[in-house]
Amino acid sequence: MDQKQLEQTLVLIKPDALKNSVTGFILSQLSEYHTGSRFAATKIINVSRLMAKEHYIEHEGKPFYDALQDYITGALHYPDDAWKRRVIAIVYQGPDVLTKIRHMAGPTNPHDARDQRPGCLRALGTVVPILDDAGNKIDIRMDNLVHASANHEDAEREIKLWFIPHDIPPLMRAYPTEVCQTHYYLKDGKLCNTYEPESVFLLAPGDVVWKSDLDILEAHAKGTPCSDSLNKVAAKYLINRNPQG
Ligand code: CDP
Ligand code: MG
Repeated sequence: MDQKQLEQTLVLIKPDALKNSVTGFILSQLSEYHTGSRFAATKIINVSRLMAKEHYIEHEGKPFYDALQDYITGALHYPDDAWKRRVIAIVYQGPDVLTKIRHMAGPTNPHDARDQRPGCLRALGTVVPILDDAGNKIDIRMDNLVHASANHEDAEREIKLWFIPHDIPPLMRAYPTEVCQTHYYLKDGKLCNTYEPESVFLLAPGDVVWKSDLDILEAHAKGTPCSDSLNKVAAKYLINRNPQG
């Protein structure tokens, strides 16, 4: 397969899309017939705070960051039905898929989307004011139904954050992998190589891992300096392990 066919993007069908039953519409818009691209992986995820923070880390500190966490975890759209809190995560693949899907999604702000690109997916979204404790408007929350990676760098980071190589058919994987040679467990935010009470299992020898993840794990295990947090790797191995309230 030529390299162009391997181009990938991460699409998230966000909780507002699930609540409003536009999932089928979005999936049908994404179909190969409309986009010339293909589904490479998909899963339904009860999004943890850890995952939400990692995914939107570039927005840390902005006034809408906390509201965005509540939105993507499903807490806002399913306040009383925690069991319904989920997103559909998709690795989508094909020539120029990044540009095509960003275009299909449309402008970030649903009001701009309606003005500038009626018919795009985000034109179906809504905007909600974010208030501080005193009731003053400090920003707006944009419930815009879908996430689509903004560029190649983001796509790689996001796909590796949400998906393990085993989620993707081997010939559709776009990033280097390596075989893990040791056991990894997580306890109190630290790695260990043997099971300890209350530790969480991450990886076993023989598991296929993103090479960059293994580099991060090895650095943390050895205590060598590493600019990438352990959470960047751990978040996806913790997907759907425990209910996230
Ligand atoms: O999703 P996109 O890359 O188009 O936009 P972004 O600027 O990276 O922001 C990420 C997400 O944060 C948006 O899709 C919105 O859902 C949300 N957001 C918000 O709620 N309020 C803002 N003022 C800006 C962004
Ligand atoms: Mg973005």
